[in-house]
Amino acid sequence: MAQQDDATVLLDEDHNEVSRMFEQYKAAKDASKQKVLARQICQELLVHMQIEEEIFYPAYVKATGDQENLKDGLEEHKESRELIGRLEQSPTDAKLMLELEDGILHHVNDEREKMFPKARKAQGLDLMALAEQLQARKEELMAGHAA
Ligand SMILES: [Fe+2]
Ligand SMILES: [Fe+2]
Repeated sequence: MAQQDDATVLLDEDHNEVSRMFEQYKAAKDASKQKVLARQICQELLVHMQIEEEIFYPAYVKATGDQENLKDGLEEHKESRELIGRLEQSPTDAKLMLELEDGILHHVNDEREKMFPKARKAQGLDLMALAEQLQARKEELMAGHAA
């Protein structure tokens, strides 16, 4: 199937997907379901952050020169990775999961409202080509992560 979405739409689909998974986690009735969902949430976020850092952020900064939002974004990824590391040890800790969800919601809003509008306006940033690279790399990483 041909890739139709630009990179910002593709990344926002990941954001929406992980929001749904956070809701499922909160609704989960037993520990085994929580564990499965926690693993999925952590995997989804790790792959998403990796493709942003490898592909989207460098292209974004090259086109916009926006170091400030890059710095904030990387700092928020780092904080999220720390929480993910703790959740991998304690996947049924709902309070920890809420902390991760809060951080991610804030971070996603920053990308949506600060970075993506600038990316769409930037000269010389091919968001369709970037979407293809992001998609291909995501598939590769997901296959590697599959248990
Ligand atoms: Fe991000
Ligand atoms: Fe993102």
